[in-house]
Amino acid sequence: EDVIRAKGATMDNDVAAQSGASAVLGRATACAHANIALIKYWGKADEALVVPTTASLSLTLDGLSTQTTVEFLGDGDAARAESDSVSLLGDDETPAESAADERTGRGGKADPTARFDLAAPDGSVGDPTADSNTIPDTLTIDGVLQHGTALARVSRFLDLIRERAGISAPARVASRNTVPFGAGLASSASAFAALAAAGSCAAGLDLSGRELSRLARRGSGSACRSIYGGLVKWNAGHDDATSYAQPVECPMDLAIIVILISAKEKPMSSREAMRLTMRTSPLYPAWVRSSADDMTRALAAVAASDLDALGEVVEANALGMHASMMAARPAVIYWLPQTVTALSAVRDLRRHGYGAWSTMDAGANVKVLTAAADAERVASELRDRLPGQTIEVHHIGSGVRVVE
Ligand code: DP6
Repeated sequence: EDVIRAKGATMDNDVAAQSGASAVLGRATACAHANIALIKYWGKADEALVVPTTASLSLTLDGLSTQTTVEFLGDGDAARAESDSVSLLGDDETPAESAADERTGRGGKADPTARFDLAAPDGSVGDPTADSNTIPDTLTIDGVLQHGTALARVSRFLDLIRERAGISAPARVASRNTVPFGAGLASSASAFAALAAAGSCAAGLDLSGRELSRLARRGSGSACRSIYGGLVKWNAGHDDATSYAQPVECPMDLAIIVILISAKEKPMSSREAMRLTMRTSPLYPAWVRSSADDMTRALAAVAASDLDALGEVVEANALGMHASMMAARPAVIYWLPQTVTALSAVRDLRRHGYGAWSTMDAGANVKVLTAAADAERVASELRDRLPGQTIEVHHIGSGVRVVE
């Protein structure tokens, strides 16, 4: 097994002394990249444990990353963290508004909380209505202090770490994202992969890659794949111990081109949409059945360095997933008119001899699989065909790292 050894938690009494508060019990910072699935995860066999109905395969990408610092605090620091939060606010402001006022340059376009902000009314990690969390954690995302859903989801995830480490200390979590396009593209994958690595390290846990992957999965399913770089397979498994990601050797140098169609908040979270699809779509069981065969074909194509065969199954798997969503009652339709235009532009490129295949997630954006060597040429053809749209090339990214 590929083992990531997290560095020991930093005991940082100096900082605590300078700030006049009691000790920071442990602190760590980790960086993780987003991933795009080639064979999709859509549906949970076990909601609470986030065990999926199907195995999935993804590419971890460069450029789209989350860096997160977690500090577990002694009593004095916890009180201080709370009073710091309160002192930022004017009387009539909500915390998010107050911090948003201080932000510049984002133009209000992206909601940085979106990646932590998927409701889970089943009571699993992320249940915003559950009041089980009495530990006063604080969370800042891209400089904006969070309350409500995002904080609740992170707090409940940290509870898993606290339980395992045998600690009850509150945490101060600060997260920064280098997502060029804003929330429309990012998934919660890089967020929970970074949080799992930073949180476990700050709590003094020394987890293997597989253990980190299992932990990240509890925060958001796709996050278990961002523990590793390059091509990654998430084995569906049947319980907590057997559901984890692992790296897959890939002899091809692949790239993903992102066609940004909408950076707006999606109409329905992927968590809610997959639940509705499973419950009501007559096409969903057929997609699950074909997914096993898709995975076999995809892995064989990778092993044979056959990009045409890989691309064909990647596009079919994603379109099948969306067909199953559209057949849900009520229908889940993430597509916009520009989505169809982008999908046909990719097909047109293929007719002109380019190796390019589409995939889509829970949103209107289209991602294009291609050989790394062809990526810039394909991107420039796409820019010609789709004027006015933001089109960016992403190469392979690395797995999660504890950076300090
Ligand atoms: C369409 O991992 O965001 O991107 O486990 O409920 O947090 P939760 O869902 P999430 O779902 C990702 C779905 C997808 C396909 C994929 O990444 O495999």
